[in-house]
Amino acid sequence: MTLLLDAVTLAYRDRPVLEGVDLEIRTGEILVIAGASGCGKSTLLRALAGLLPVTSGRLLDRGEPVRGPSADRALMFQDDALLPWRSARRNVELPLAIRGMPRAERTSRADEWLARVGLAGLELRLPRDLSGGQRQRVQLARVLAGGPRAVLMDEPFGALDPQTRREMQRLLVEVWNAETTVVFVTHDVEEALTLGDRVAVLGGGGLADLVEIPLPRTSADPSLRARVLTALGAPALETT
Ligand SMILES: Nc1ncnc2c1ncn2[C@@H]1O[C@H](COP(=O)(O)OP(=O)(O)O)[C@@H](O)[C@H]1O
Ligand SMILES: [Mg+2]
Repeated sequence: MTLLLDAVTLAYRDRPVLEGVDLEIRTGEILVIAGASGCGKSTLLRALAGLLPVTSGRLLDRGEPVRGPSADRALMFQDDALLPWRSARRNVELPLAIRGMPRAERTSRADEWLARVGLAGLELRLPRDLSGGQRQRVQLARVLAGGPRAVLMDEPFGALDPQTRREMQRLLVEVWNAETTVVFVTHDVEEALTLGDRVAVLGGGGLADLVEIPLPRTSADPSLRARVLTALGAPALETT
């Protein structure tokens, strides 16, 4: 197991957002965190990233308390976090440069990842000359090129149009390697069922349900859909 939450409570000042969360995140799984807006998904992800200390309980990474950010646990957001003055290649190189990888090696590693996400030939483009979907591909390449043990993604495809979003979901599953643990936050039930090995549904200030999604992943299974929707607690959400 990679990450363990044991009776974790997360709060801002004195106001708890999540209380008593018990969760084992398995090495190499894609764990989706689902839940309505404001239920604490980003808060949980920030704690996993080491950006927010637990108020009580234990948060362990391979048995050691998480005390701060680590390159082993890489974050990816919805907002475009690319540096606008750096080419796609130089953006992907950045975390490798920070780690001290020699230039020739990081350039070939960056180009390899850009090719893997379908951007061969666009290495020298600046972010402003790429589409939104292409920029998300660069971000995905950047996150994965660093070889983190865990990738923490906060609604990374939320701003994309539906077709590009589906392409990115397919791409993620394609390039994800089975040793990398992915924690993927979404409020979209279809996305949760498409991507997740398991779906942890947050609600009511805690973990409302933990649903195992059998392989092959299919969002067509109506009973699993119903279960996730029930855990989300609102038939109204079905329309969003
Ligand atoms: N920095 C902060 N300070 C105080 N309250 C916050 C902060 N960030 C989020 N919250 C509150 O915590 C709750 C959960 O927020 P968040 O984790 O962002 O929800 P989600 O990502 O599920 O939409 C919300 O009520 C939000 O207003
Ligand atoms: Mg959020």
